[in-house]
Amino acid sequence: MRPLFMPLEIAQALTASRLAEIRAQLSPLLPTAKPITLEIGSGHGHFLTAYAAAQPERFCIGIDLIGDRLDRSARKSNRAKLSNIVWMHAEATLFLEALPADTALAEIFVLFSDPWPKRRHWKNRVIQPEFLSLLASRAGQGARLHFRTDHAPYFEQVHEIVNQHASWKLDAETAWPFELPTVFQQRAESHQSLIAKRT
Ligand SMILES: C[S@@+](CC[C@H](N)C(=O)[O-])C[C@H]1O[C@@H](n2cnc3c(N)ncnc32)[C@H](O)[C@@H]1O
Repeated sequence: MRPLFMPLEIAQALTASRLAEIRAQLSPLLPTAKPITLEIGSGHGHFLTAYAAAQPERFCIGIDLIGDRLDRSARKSNRAKLSNIVWMHAEATLFLEALPADTALAEIFVLFSDPWPKRRHWKNRVIQPEFLSLLASRAGQGARLHFRTDHAPYFEQVHEIVNQHASWKLDAETAWPFELPTVFQQRAESHQSLIAKRT
């Protein structure tokens, strides 16, 4: 069983070793000549599998924290015989840090990200100003971030964070590029979406 409090040196060593593992997984894949689409929190993989099938000219990466969901995702994309998609067991911030610094993601999807409704848990929400800065450092100019949620307060917060961020601009002109209801979208009564453009 893991101790509740871990000495800083051990935590840093674990992070460094996880970063090295993700980099090792990425090294045969990147760089690629194809535009890269990243889905953060890809869940059961329905969206990205369908997207990769519809967009064979793109290279798609789905990341999630839950191994079982990634296994199911891989079974879907294998059944569809897709060669332009990979699934990785990775935390979003670590994954972005592990990407080569010259990576220029073309598209990012964050769909029905955990809303952490209680205020004291908001720090756990994926979209934060620092996260958008890190994402911008791995996104090409003009890259699009697509965010969708059924949780109105999280939507408002992300709208505000994007609006205030120097590297992202709300993009009301671009249409949502691809519709395929995710598992969490199917459970939701309604949802809101925004697109942000890397400036
Ligand atoms: C509410 S589910 C939504 C899954 C899917 N996008 C959908 O709409 O059905 C959120 C997913 O994000 C993953 N997740 C949460 N925080 C994450 C993080 N920091 N890095 C990567 N994945 C994360 C969770 O494991 C979970 O599968």
